[in-house]
Amino acid sequence: MNTTKTKAYAAQSATSSLASATIPRREPTPRDVKIEILFCGICHSDLHYARNEWSSVMQTVYPCVPGHEIVGRVTSVGSAVTKHKPGDLVGVGCLVDADLSCPHCRAGNEQFSPTQVWTYGGTDKHLGLPTYGGYSESIVVDEHFVLRVPKNLPLAGVAPLLCAGITTYSPMRHWKVGPSQKVGIVGLGGLGHMGVKFARAFGAHVVVFTTSPGKKDDAIRLGAHEVVLSRNAEEMNKHSSSFNFILDAVAAPHDVNAYLNLLKVDGNLTLVGAPEKPHAISAFSLIMGRRSLSGSPIGGIAETQEMLDFCSQHNITADVEVIPIQKVNEAYDRMAKGDVKYRFSIDMASLKA
Ligand SMILES: NC(=O)c1ccc[n+]([C@@H]2O[C@H](COP(=O)([O-])OP(=O)(O)OC[C@H]3O[C@@H](n4cnc5c(N)ncnc54)[C@H](OP(=O)(O)O)[C@@H]3O)[C@@H](O)[C@H]2O)c1
Ligand SMILES: [Zn+2]
Repeated sequence: MNTTKTKAYAAQSATSSLASATIPRREPTPRDVKIEILFCGICHSDLHYARNEWSSVMQTVYPCVPGHEIVGRVTSVGSAVTKHKPGDLVGVGCLVDADLSCPHCRAGNEQFSPTQVWTYGGTDKHLGLPTYGGYSESIVVDEHFVLRVPKNLPLAGVAPLLCAGITTYSPMRHWKVGPSQKVGIVGLGGLGHMGVKFARAFGAHVVVFTTSPGKKDDAIRLGAHEVVLSRNAEEMNKHSSSFNFILDAVAAPHDVNAYLNLLKVDGNLTLVGAPEKPHAISAFSLIMGRRSLSGSPIGGIAETQEMLDFCSQHNITADVEVIPIQKVNEAYDRMAKGDVKYRFSIDMASLKA
């Protein structure tokens, strides 16, 4: 199959900075949509992956082009494509392929399919080459994995919905977050700030747990009813055994038991944050109160579309700092220090500069 040389930003090793590179993209097949990328969010997973921080679970394949919060415009479609047409505004998240016939795909949970292909770090089944993400000028994706983007929202702030949005929306829908529930969001970063917006829109009483005193006012502005400084034991104790649901979106090692102890009987804590080292869990934190601990990866394609439509109706986008691609390394260093309010969104027009 023919390929097209495509401009991108890539990391060549775990310790090298991202820099300009050329990658091959496949020529569109009859089912494919070709997209000019307009904005790409920077997820902490991009940083974990580019720096091979998840090496105990998976090895990063280099060169690596991160980016799975993609918004762009359709430039061409294959002959069998029915969902999208040239000129449409569209999005691509963490998934670009799967068999679409296994029980998980049929249930709309492509994220659990044994054949799912990640937007970067997967294998393009047509080329047999690694997949490359959204820090690039264009991408070619099977139409099933291409989302319709609402017309009423600013695109730079829509891009992060494709990962940070669905990753927080999906577990809250699964655990039926709603009015009369007390919900905690741990870590006010890219995922966390979306979690606050959704929990509030679902009608819950929202409490943010942060290690950053400087984020208190923002937490309230974003929709929290209360803010707790998680390093203050006294403030934490006030909330003992009171939460229905807690979403943990922290990217670094921390004590999960401190949050399990804040759950009511039968309460659930869902991990979406994926630090490189395992958590130590006390059996007693779970046993006392029949509490449960679970995890959740992104969400399926139908639910991602539902989330985008929900955001359109409720006027929800990410709070973004727009940067040119040339500032991506600086953005990574700031993200590693927790200095992001609350998502970087790359203006991909800068790649042409
Ligand atoms: N499950 C999934 O499908 C999925 C999808 C996307 C991302 N992720 C993972 O989710 C995590 C968060 O991603 P993100 O993009 O939201 O990252 P982010 O923007 O960097 O936010 C992470 C937040 O964690 C808190 N934090 C950082 N260091 C901490 C420490 N040492 N102790 C306690 N809290 C700390 C900070 O919040 P405060 O300043 O408020 O404390 C920080 O803003 C990453 O591990 C990422 O890989 C998972
Ligand atoms: Zn992500």
